[in-house]
Amino acid sequence: MSRWHVGPAAKPPTQQGSNRPGILPCQGGSLSDSPKVRANDYPFDPICVGQPQTFPEPFVQRADSSQLQTTNLDSEVRLGFAHRVRFTRDAFDLANPALRDVFGGDSDIATRRAVAFIDSGLLQATEGEIANRLRAAFTAGGRSLPQLVEIVAIPGGETAKESHEIPDIVLQLVNHHKICRKSFVIAIGGGAMLDAVGYGAAISHRGVRLVRMPSTVLAQDDAAMGVKNGINRFGKKNFVGAFAVPYAVLCDEVLLETLPDAVYRAGFSEAVKIALLKDPAFFERLERDAARIASRDGAVANPAIRRSAELHLRHIIDGGDPFEANEARPLDFGHWAAHRLESMSAFSISHGDAVGLGLLLDCRYSNLKGWLSDADFARIRAVIAALGLPMRHALFADHAALLAGADEFREHLGGKLTVTMLRGVGHGFEVHELDHALVRQAAVELS
Ligand SMILES: NC(=O)c1ccc[n+]([C@@H]2O[C@H](COP(=O)([O-])OP(=O)(O)OC[C@H]3O[C@@H](n4cnc5c(N)ncnc54)[C@H](O)[C@@H]3O)[C@@H](O)[C@H]2O)c1
Ligand SMILES: [Zn+2]
Repeated sequence: MSRWHVGPAAKPPTQQGSNRPGILPCQGGSLSDSPKVRANDYPFDPICVGQPQTFPEPFVQRADSSQLQTTNLDSEVRLGFAHRVRFTRDAFDLANPALRDVFGGDSDIATRRAVAFIDSGLLQATEGEIANRLRAAFTAGGRSLPQLVEIVAIPGGETAKESHEIPDIVLQLVNHHKICRKSFVIAIGGGAMLDAVGYGAAISHRGVRLVRMPSTVLAQDDAAMGVKNGINRFGKKNFVGAFAVPYAVLCDEVLLETLPDAVYRAGFSEAVKIALLKDPAFFERLERDAARIASRDGAVANPAIRRSAELHLRHIIDGGDPFEANEARPLDFGHWAAHRLESMSAFSISHGDAVGLGLLLDCRYSNLKGWLSDADFARIRAVIAALGLPMRHALFADHAALLAGADEFREHLGGKLTVTMLRGVGHGFEVHELDHALVRQAAVELS
């Protein structure tokens, strides 16, 4: 029998517990009886913990066995979504058809409305020019584009995901501008604000159309490809969120030109991750081009971003698990520790840097386990170093806090712990337990 009993407010009160409407007070036990609930985390009145609730009258009239029948209408829901993903250069150049093309599938586009959200980092780096160019492109696009009703600046970086504030701003503007499900939210920025604005779009009217224009390397080579939106809560990454397929993703390489070096380079950790899992030839290209990529040579960096995006996209589309119902999540290779390092650092370590560190940890662990050869581990270290990513972090010294990340990761995915490890370049596989002593050894070396 469940230890939690929730019933209508009209049931008779008992001697202790809550007077809150709609919640049955407890007959016995207390909040502290529950091993799962600690008072500090849980500022609400207990519903009922401890002794099972008894009612003076039966809550449900007992049926005789002939009435206990179930009608089974089980069905399979098959969903088909278009996932429009385009890479271009200078989407707001009036001669570039890319912007009109992404909206071109809707014959009533002239009647639609759009509200645009721009990452404040991008806005500052372009001294507001990005907003002017967006406005000019929509004006010139006339009836081939939706009517752009407002442009709003959104704080960039992880702060965008720290509270419900950004999704709430999206909700308010969707309401204010009467953005219907056929109309658009346009988000232009880094992965964090795309996640937060995307979540606001996903919950407005249960989903208005979202057009993402990612403006960081990481957002173009990974984050914007996915169908995930969300914000952080309880100090945990992506605790709140929704799966929703965007209406379109338009990646513009011009947007990357104003990125600070560290943000630019950090995004290539996701390219290393996907190359290690799925494409040894791509990994060899990264090895060869890493120094040029770190010095922002677009001739090699932009194709690498596109290849990484394509591999992420193919996994999401063809991998058979776009909404992550399975326990295995290969795209989260290196991420159990990465997410933990981000939250341990109060999000001062960027996601890209944390993924690089998380990859180093899991590759060294694979090496210590005897799965990954010394030579392959040395290649992986070398490519991460040549890309200019951090190679160690003091927070690795806090083993206990780090290892708690594995449990958090398991809880987020559901089911049993499933972490990707490496047998060689292009050969990831799943494990269901971690040898804590070896994780500690790998972490000590990286601290
Ligand atoms: N939804 C997904 O599937 C998915 C996948 C991977 C990562 N993510 C999330 O993405 C986030 C990380 O995204 P990120 O690496 O893009 O970093 P970010 O969004 O935190 O942005 C980093 C910094 O760059 C600034 N910025 C953005 N574009 C700029 C530009 N063109 N010029 C100058 N400054 C600019 C931002 O204002 C911010 O200060 C994390 O929250 C991560 O969890 C989501
Ligand atoms: Zn990631």
